[in-house]
Amino acid sequence: MDSKPNVTLPRHLALVGLMGAGKTAVGASVASRLGCRHVDLDRAVTQLAGRSIGVIFHEGGEEAFRDLEEQALGLQMQAVDPIVLSTGGGVLGRETNRAVLAREATVVWLRATPETLAARVGDPSSRPLLADSDPVEALRRLASERTPAYETAADAVIDTDGLDVSMVGALVVDALPATDGAVQ
Ligand code: S3P
Repeated sequence: MDSKPNVTLPRHLALVGLMGAGKTAVGASVASRLGCRHVDLDRAVTQLAGRSIGVIFHEGGEEAFRDLEEQALGLQMQAVDPIVLSTGGGVLGRETNRAVLAREATVVWLRATPETLAARVGDPSSRPLLADSDPVEALRRLASERTPAYETAADAVIDTDGLDVSMVGALVVDALPATDGAVQ
């Protein structure tokens, strides 16, 4: 059974985790199971900027991207009806973002090994932070920098190695009642 329509989201659901964690695909799957809107934060950033992530990084560096990301997150968290939000891997780097997610969303961390993440990312050309070094090494370094923030923010953690999108989506939905009392 692929859906659990009798679970409703009482607040936004944000998926966090490193590049390659499956946040976008799993977010779409969870939103369709729950019958709510799915927003991909990277896409919201590109719509806000009218430019691709690669061009934003190229023209203004990472800070320009982080400014847009913070702005897009703030806008999405104002949605009246709960949304499923697939964040970008670095969203917890800013205190403002950590605070808005803690206040407005149930946060689920999709975790995987650097090897799994790199395999899922495949061609890293659309990920500026993976462009200049070996993706496994870059992801290992990002994992050690970011794990404390993911741990602190997460209401639930799902280990996704060896699981497909549908399986992870089901685990996310199953985690909801335990994390914040979604109505069944
Ligand atoms: C980033 C992850 C990317 C995107 C940007 C920066 C990061 O999103 O936001 O390239 O800092 O980890 P995904 O995690 O969806 O690949």
